[in-house]
Amino acid sequence: SFAASANSERSFIMVKPDGVHRGLVGDVIKRFEQRGYKLVGIKVLVPSRELASKHYAEHDGKPFFPKLVDFLSSGAVVACVFEGKDVVKTGRTMIGATNPLASAPGTLRADFAVDMGRNIIHGSDSVESAMREIALWFNADELATYATATQAWVY
Ligand code: PPS
Repeated sequence: SFAASANSERSFIMVKPDGVHRGLVGDVIKRFEQRGYKLVGIKVLVPSRELASKHYAEHDGKPFFPKLVDFLSSGAVVACVFEGKDVVKTGRTMIGATNPLASAPGTLRADFAVDMGRNIIHGSDSVESAMREIALWFNADELATYATATQAWVY
């Protein structure tokens, strides 16, 4: 039966600078929309180094951290919040493995990328990360609450 609360999980999904630069914003959003996920927040911005560092704070100290921060703050990103049943885990499956060369066919990274450092999209890796990332990138009043025609049956 339809349980609204089970469908209100949220994930932070971001088209990274390489994806925006290549004009892949629409392709990314389309995949999530057609799966049945609801877009409840979206913005385009060039992240500051401070914001990029906070976003990747758990990787601070790893060899690739400086490159990661440089890259994320190198251009415009499209930050999104998608909502729906199991969106965190399913979103990661739709995105594919971190290394695009290892991503399964049909995933966003396999279909659009080959380079580890240029994998076009970020998705939260857990519900806890999603809550942290959404709070970092969005103010509460930037997230919309609304009904969609399909939400009663698409899940
Ligand atoms: S870890 O160590 O397993 O937790 O790291 P991982 O989750 O695989 O990756 C964390 C983010 O860093 C990016 N990454 C890299 N970027 C550039 N070069 C190298 N070598 C590299 N290794 C990992 C990776 O894409 C992850 O970014 P997001 O945006 O979360 O996908």
